[in-house]
Amino acid sequence: MKRKTQSKPIGIFDSGVGGLTVLKEVLKQLPNENIIYFGDTARVPYGSKSVETIRRFALQDSAFLKSMDVKMIVVACNTVSSNAMNLLRENFDVPFVDVLLPNAMYASQVTRKNRIGVIGTPATVESGAYSRIIKKFNPQHKVFSEATPLLVPLAEEGLIESEATEIILKNYLSRLLLKDIDALILGCTHYPLFEKKIKEIAGSEVHVVNSARQTARTVKSMLEDSNMLNCANKKGDVRFFLSDIPRNFKKIAQRFLKQNIAGKVTRIDIESY
Ligand code: DGL
Repeated sequence: MKRKTQSKPIGIFDSGVGGLTVLKEVLKQLPNENIIYFGDTARVPYGSKSVETIRRFALQDSAFLKSMDVKMIVVACNTVSSNAMNLLRENFDVPFVDVLLPNAMYASQVTRKNRIGVIGTPATVESGAYSRIIKKFNPQHKVFSEATPLLVPLAEEGLIESEATEIILKNYLSRLLLKDIDALILGCTHYPLFEKKIKEIAGSEVHVVNSARQTARTVKSMLEDSNMLNCANKKGDVRFFLSDIPRNFKKIAQRFLKQNIAGKVTRIDIESY
């Protein structure tokens, strides 16, 4: 019985290409796992939608993954992680991993000045979720948040190293850097695509926190603890499901994951879930 569960895939979802940053780390740390990635590319971005809509999308995304018989769902999206986790846990009997906790925990550990910056989508920043979690770890920590809504469309367009992106990043980060932060949470899974540039702008004094690695560690330890790791002695299979097949997805995914995904991408009608 357990063996059957172990070989089931892990489901990972995001609004678009952002969750690939988490997928990449999961592949690195858990190469034997079968994975189903869902990107809601027809409805991205989530971060500027209402909480009600984000919750409806999150329920549909999870229902799709559940229909694929996954053993765990990784919410590789800060916007959903900060607005819909209770709802998801109430509605589905499958273990969930979100990206908020690993980010918050890591930032709390690395800050020396107790001053943490967070960049995220408007819905993540407005939820106040990071501030709440970080203050639970340490009430002394001060959290400064900045909504950075233009970064998701830039990532979805593959405009990672353009001059326009650099100007926008400098503009967004300047206010936070004035607050004398020494840790900066990339509070959106799309943002690690810009990590190199963000590090350059923030300078070496600021610890840039990208939760993909920590999230993958959490996935691994949860599967270990519940004896659900796939013990098959071969490389796992990754399949991609998208609610639309945009021009850029395959290109961005292949460049970022450094693997050919031809023949592995299927379009689904997410509104039917
Ligand atoms: N990548 C997601 C996040 O971490 C969603 C971004 C969006 O669709 O606005 O918040």
